[in-house]
Formats: sequence, C-alpha cells, structure tokens
Amino acid sequence: MNALLAIDVAGINKHFGDKHVVKDLSLRVREGEIFGFLGPNGSGKTTSIRILCGLLTPDSGRGTCLGLDVLTESAAIKRQVGYMTQRFSLWDDLTIAENLDFVARMFGMADRRTAVEETLETLGLAGRRDQLAGALSGGWKQRLALASCLLHRPRLLLLDEPTAGVDPKARRDFWEEIHRLSADGITVLVSTHYMDEAERCHRLAYISYGQLLASGTAEEVVAGQGLHTWEISGEGIQGLAGRLRQLPGASLVASFGSTLHISGLDGAELQASLEGFVRESGLRMTAVSPSLEDAFIHLMRGGLDPYQG
Ligand SMILES: Nc1ncnc2c1ncn2[C@@H]1O[C@H](COP(=O)(O)OP(=O)(O)O)[C@@H](O)[C@H]1O
Ligand SMILES: [Mg+2]
Repeated sequence: MNALLAIDVAGINKHFGDKHVVKDLSLRVREGEIFGFLGPNGSGKTTSIRILCGLLTPDSGRGTCLGLDVLTESAAIKRQVGYMTQRFSLWDDLTIAENLDFVARMFGMADRRTAVEETLETLGLAGRRDQLAGALSGGWKQRLALASCLLHRPRLLLLDEPTAGVDPKARRDFWEEIHRLSADGITVLVSTHYMDEAERCHRLAYISYGQLLASGTAEEVVAGQGLHTWEISGEGIQGLAGRLRQLPGASLVASFGSTLHISGLDGAELQASLEGFVRESGLRMTAVSPSLEDAFIHLMRGGLDPYQG
C-alpha cells in the first residue's frame, strides 16, 4: 500500500444480475488531489463510488480507501468519507443550522455544536443559518448538502454529479469551494458530465460501460488518443458536418460554437482529404490541438462502435 494514495483499488468487478456494471476497475487517487470521474449515463460511476466507500461489496477485486481495506473495513472507511449522493436530500422544513445539527446527531458527534458552527462559517452559510432549506435556491441547497458531508471532517469527499441542475454561477462557486478543500488536504473524487469541470480536476478517468478507458491529467488523456485535429470555419459549415465525416481519414466531427473540429488518427491522410474539401467548398482549415471534448467524443465512439475512430 502506498501511503500517498487515498484510493488504490484493482480488478474491481460488480454485476447486477447478468449485467456486468463495473469491469476490472483499477483506480489510484492521490491524497489531496481532485480526481474527476467522467462517463456517459449508466457507465457505472455511481456504482463504483458506492464500492469505494464500502456501501456496496464488489464481486471481486481488492484495494484500499484511506489505507483501509474496502472489503473488510468498510465501517472505518465510512467514518472518514463524506459522500454526496447524486440525489441528495435535505429536510425542507428544517433551517440550515437545524439540518446540520440533525446530521451531526446522526453521526453521534461529541462536539456537535462546534462542528455545526465551524461548518456554517467555512461554507459561508452562517448568515443564512435560520433560512428553511426548502426555500433555498439550487446552489445554496447544494452548498448545504456539501456542508452536511463535511461535518464529521472527512479526509475524502466523494461527490456524485454534485452540480447537476445548478446554474453556472453556483457551479463556479462550488468549484472554488472544492479547490479550497483540496488545498486544505482533503481528497476529492467527483463525477461529472460537464467538460469545463473535467478541466478543473487535477487528474481524471473516463469510464464507459463499466470500463475505464483512459486516465491521467487532461493533457495525458488528450495525448493518449493520438488524434490529429483541424478547426474548420466558413459559410454553412454546420450543414457540412455529415460530408466532412465521410472524408478519408476522418474519425470524428464535433461542433465548437461556429466552427467544427474534425479529427482522425492518420494525420497525413486526413490533411490530404481536408485540403481537397476546403479548396472546393471555400472553407478555412487550421491545425489545432485536440481538446478534452474531442478526446471524450473519440473515447465514447470507441465504446459504442468498434468501426468508428
Ligand atoms: N441496484 C441496482 N440494481 C440493478 N442494476 C443497477 C443497480 N444500480 C445500478 N444499476 C445499473 O448499473 C448500470 C450502471 O449504473 P450507475 O452506476 O448508476 O451508472 P452512472 O452513475 O455512471 O450513471 C446501469 O445500467 C444501471 O441501470
Ligand atoms: Mg450516477
């Protein structure tokens, strides 16, 4: 076991009936880092998170969470982990302070009052302590949910799509909070659908149909796909996506605002066919670095269709 790893699991499998939901998952998350967990709906993110914090037992595999065995020491793991579920719930007819006090009682915390006061302060909730949770905006509800997970001073936070359905300003604030927590030494594993959030993580993993397809820093994940990418701009390009996709060497086309990104694995082949195409259609092409989004689309295609990309 490596003391610098908050999560270190290997060969984790989980079936639900005959559905193989987590396939041979190996994951290493370093202490203090923000680790992003990306992947389409139904790819096994929630199931993996629940295995990591000892709520679900894997069919096979082994590993540690905070140095504790995920198979045999789940009670101890739960005490040191804060888990914000995908559909977190608050007591709508309790105030912010009462919600936190209630959670602190459930954890059986000896220094309940101090913990509640500290948490209200650190999360900027003190000024709203007497507001009913049910009357809060989505962003404040989510902040209260995060506060509830932090009361017992966990060393690891597992956040399952914490910003789904929250407005952009609240999402930005939430991420500043996550970075503050990480700077204080708390490890954060966060699942998300949002590309801009993926880019805010120190490292990330992409999972599809239960299979981990890539992991590393955003740069490493992008580089690992070996894509060659051009940006195409000009009149009427949106209508040309279909034709661009048919070009020899093209494996994916993605919209970026008013431009398109076209990528392929064989750069020379794609460049040659693109040059012919833009000459004929009066478009412009510029070689660019593939983005994380290009890489994710490529990974997703690989998972769905073995003949593409
Ligand atoms: N308790 C369960 N019983 C049966 N199937 C489940 C259960 N939980 C999840 N699944 C299935 O496992 C797959 C992965 O689900 P999940 O881990 O929730 O994915 P994600 O969080 O990436 O959307 C889905 O096909 C889902 O329907
Ligand atoms: Mg989920």
